[in-house]
Amino acid sequence: MTALLEVTGLRKSFGGRRGLVGTRKAAAPAVHDVAFTIEAGRSLALVGESGAGKSTVGRLVLRLIEPDAGTIRFDGVDVRALGSRELRGLRRRMQMIFQDPFSALDPRMSIAEAVAEPLAIHQRLGRADRDRRAAALLDRVGIGGRYLERFPAELSGGQLQRVAIARALTVEPALIVCDEPVAALDVSVQAQVLNLMQELQDELGLSYLFITHDLALVEVIADRVAVMSAGTIVEEGPVNDVFANPRQEYTRQLLSAIPIPVPRSSRISTA
Ligand SMILES: Nc1ncnc2c1ncn2[C@@H]1O[C@H](COP(=O)(O)OP(=O)(O)OP(=O)(O)O)[C@@H](O)[C@H]1O
Ligand SMILES: [Mg+2]
Repeated sequence: MTALLEVTGLRKSFGGRRGLVGTRKAAAPAVHDVAFTIEAGRSLALVGESGAGKSTVGRLVLRLIEPDAGTIRFDGVDVRALGSRELRGLRRRMQMIFQDPFSALDPRMSIAEAVAEPLAIHQRLGRADRDRRAAALLDRVGIGGRYLERFPAELSGGQLQRVAIARALTVEPALIVCDEPVAALDVSVQAQVLNLMQELQDELGLSYLFITHDLALVEVIADRVAVMSAGTIVEEGPVNDVFANPRQEYTRQLLSAIPIPVPRSSRISTA
């Protein structure tokens, strides 16, 4: 197995508060001692309570923010050593999908334009090729021709997340960092979008860093799970192992919060 992404000793603090006499009070690091590996074509779920540092890890990996310490190797290349030109190349191979697809799309651009735009920037395709490729990608994610000329405000949350996925795929990424990608969607729509993500993973050999606070999604989408608490990973392993035999009390508590579907017959109130 080849590691696509290898992170070690990752650390990030955000500016401390200013003390009474002008001394800077160091803030507790948002992320510290974080290490994990994602193999090509596999997914790692990053779970943990709100404020644990999950999104910060995602942004560090993409170098949207700079770490204070640690190494990030992508396909064997030290990401932190790259100059701006090489970083642009790397950005093509890593993409991000957010919880709110609406805010990630320009409201004045049609759906077709939103997907064609990165093709113009990164792939240097001519107009006709761009439009054809955008339509094909949108078709692949289940957005048919009649939506192409519509605007983001005219689509549902699930449809918009499909558009965001198509847009991410334009640059043929190897890794997609997904930060709570289905958290804003209805449960039935969540399942459809997760299915799509899995199909695309199989077809294209994608890797996902899948950030979620919802442990019920982890078994569906991920091979491995890393549990984060207070800025660091407290437990990591294959999803089945961690879920069956959580070693940390913290993980046990997270798992006990997963709602277990109750059969209708046993739900009858005895009050
Ligand atoms: N730009 C920033 N400036 C200052 N502090 C920040 C910044 N971004 C994150 N933090 C702090 O870092 C910590 C981790 O935040 P992060 O957003 O990574 O958590 P999270 O695990 O993604 O939480 P959630 O599940 O609520 O999205 C928090 O204490 C947060 O307040
Ligand atoms: Mg977050």
